[in-house]
This record gives sequence, C-alpha cells and structure tokens, in this order.
Amino acid sequence: MINRIKELITEIEKFSSADSDAIEAFRIKYLSKKGIIPQLFGEFKNVAQEQKKEFGQLLNQLKNNAQDKVELLKREVSSSTQSDIKVDASLPGNAVKLGTRHPVTQTRNQIVDIFQRLGFTISESLEIEDDWHVFSSLNFPKEHPARDMQDTFFVERNPDVLLRTHTSSVQARVMETTKPPIRVITPGRVFRNEAISARAHCIFHQVEGLYIDKDVSFADLRQTLDYFIRELFGKEVRTRLRPSYFPFTEPSAELDIECLLCKGKGCNVCKHTSWLEVLGCGMVDVNVLKANNIDPDVYTGFAFGMGIERITMLKYGVNDLRLYFENDLRFLRQF
Ligand code: DAH
Repeated sequence: MINRIKELITEIEKFSSADSDAIEAFRIKYLSKKGIIPQLFGEFKNVAQEQKKEFGQLLNQLKNNAQDKVELLKREVSSSTQSDIKVDASLPGNAVKLGTRHPVTQTRNQIVDIFQRLGFTISESLEIEDDWHVFSSLNFPKEHPARDMQDTFFVERNPDVLLRTHTSSVQARVMETTKPPIRVITPGRVFRNEAISARAHCIFHQVEGLYIDKDVSFADLRQTLDYFIRELFGKEVRTRLRPSYFPFTEPSAELDIECLLCKGKGCNVCKHTSWLEVLGCGMVDVNVLKANNIDPDVYTGFAFGMGIERITMLKYGVNDLRLYFENDLRFLRQF
C-alpha cells in the first residue's frame, strides 16, 4: 500500500499539461469524491497500526502534491491565454474617423474669410428681435407684406417680439452702436413662417454685409461683389446686376452669376435663362441712415445679403433645402 502511494506521488510529479480539459480530468481522477486519493483515505482504517503513521503522512503528501499540481497548471494555462493576446505594434491602428464641418458651415466660413480679407469685421447679433430692428428702422412701410403673419414668427403673440426674418436686422444694430466708417459682415440664422419644401425652409442662414463711409459708391459695391464672386466661384465666372427692389436700399439690385453648369448655353438648373440668382444688394436707403442717426449728407453706404444655403446649392448642386437640416450622415459625409 505504501509503495502504491509512493508510485502515485511520482506519477503526479511527472504529470504536466497545458490543456485545461486534461488538467480537469487529472483533478477528477485523483481528487474528486470518488477519485483515487479520497479512496485511499477510505483505506486508512484497514492499515496496520504500526504503518498508520507513515501511511497517513505519505497520503497527506500525495493529496497536497496533487492539489498543488492542479493549482499550478491552471495558473499556467490562464496566464498563457492572457499572453496570447500579444500587442503587435506594427499593425495599423484603428483609424479615428474625423467628422467634417456641415456644408453650410463650410460655405459660411468661406464667405466670412473672403470678406475678412477685404477688411470687414464680423458681427453676430440677436435671433429674437423686435419690430424696429427687423422692419421699421429698415424702412419697411407699415403695410409691407413681409410683416404679414405668413412670413414672420412672432413670439408669445407679441407683435414686437419676433424671430428675425433676415440678418439685415444686424445692420440696424451695428449702425445704432457704431460710428462710420462701418465695414461689417453678419452671418447668422434666420426664420420664416414657411411650409417646408425642397425650395423653402422655416430656418436658414444668411450673411449680410454693410459698408458705410464717406464717398462709398455703387461702383465700390460692384467691385466688392465681383471680387467676392471670383474668390468663391472662380476667376472666370461672369456676373450681372439686375435692378430690383428692397425697402432698405435705393437703388437696389440683384446679382446673378452665369450658370455654372451650362456656362450660358441654357439648362434645367438655370431654367434656360443662363443666369443664377445669388444675392440682393444696393445703396443704403437715406431713410435707413436717418433712422440710425447717420447723416446722409456726409455718409453713403452699400449693403448686401445672401442665403448661405443658396450659395451652397450653387457650389455643390444640392437642390433640396431639407437635406441641410436632416443630419443624414450619408449626405453630410460627402463634404
Ligand atoms: N434682407 C434681404 C432678404 O432677406 C436680403 C438683402 C437684400 C439684404 C438686399 C441686403 C440688401 O442688405 O441690400 O431677402
């Protein structure tokens, strides 16, 4: 019996495995309830008295060795599976996907950048405005259709608290607080009470420009806008000014560019007119200067205003306004 235990001790000594199933089988074989070692403990009562001491000691040693072995092998297996996840520093990393700026923001930044090079400063102002800054100070007669509920969102049914319908309101704010010379552009968000469609949205963006100084002429306006258009759309693009009407400018004009797609031959985009509308502009109306305490005998000025979505449409050919507001990544990732 004693020899049997000694054999088992050597057997256990020799056992080795890196396979967790084999280690478990080993544990079951020797240490489980019906395993070899508990069975030997069961034999203890049959052992002759004078051998009991040696038998007991060897059996305990066997049991401890077996337990230690199982522990050791298990530990080795788990640490080797961990070290299998080796770091290969030469593999390419997981690329961090960079977002892109919204196309409207990109266009806004381009526009602002061009005018900053001409010495214009940026001014941003309130989105919630009053009648004076959006309409009255800009020479809108009381009955002007733009004051109609159809176009303007009024806040809390108060006709004097409204969401600005154009960034021209910032002209009024700037004139109120700044003495000429004034040279500002004012990018911002505007709101109109319109049904949302491919061609109209209740929220969009504009950039307004205002230049007031002594001897500012219509030729300066033309020069400034031509420079702007060439910087934005390319040196070859032709422009034209068409007479128009805005309450706050006199004379007023709209600036068109030759259709970028057909280059004047006529296509669906320009509706066979060869021209695309870009912005409104004109010489600041005398009434507007007066309303803002600027002496029209000393100062003249020009102003212009454009829709950023409209410019983005012209640049990229995206002709559904709703796309700019849906946050669809399939659209946004293209810019
Ligand atoms: N405020 C006009 C609009 O929302 C755009 C505009 C036209 C602005 C002519 C101007 C301007 O400053 O001179 O349609």
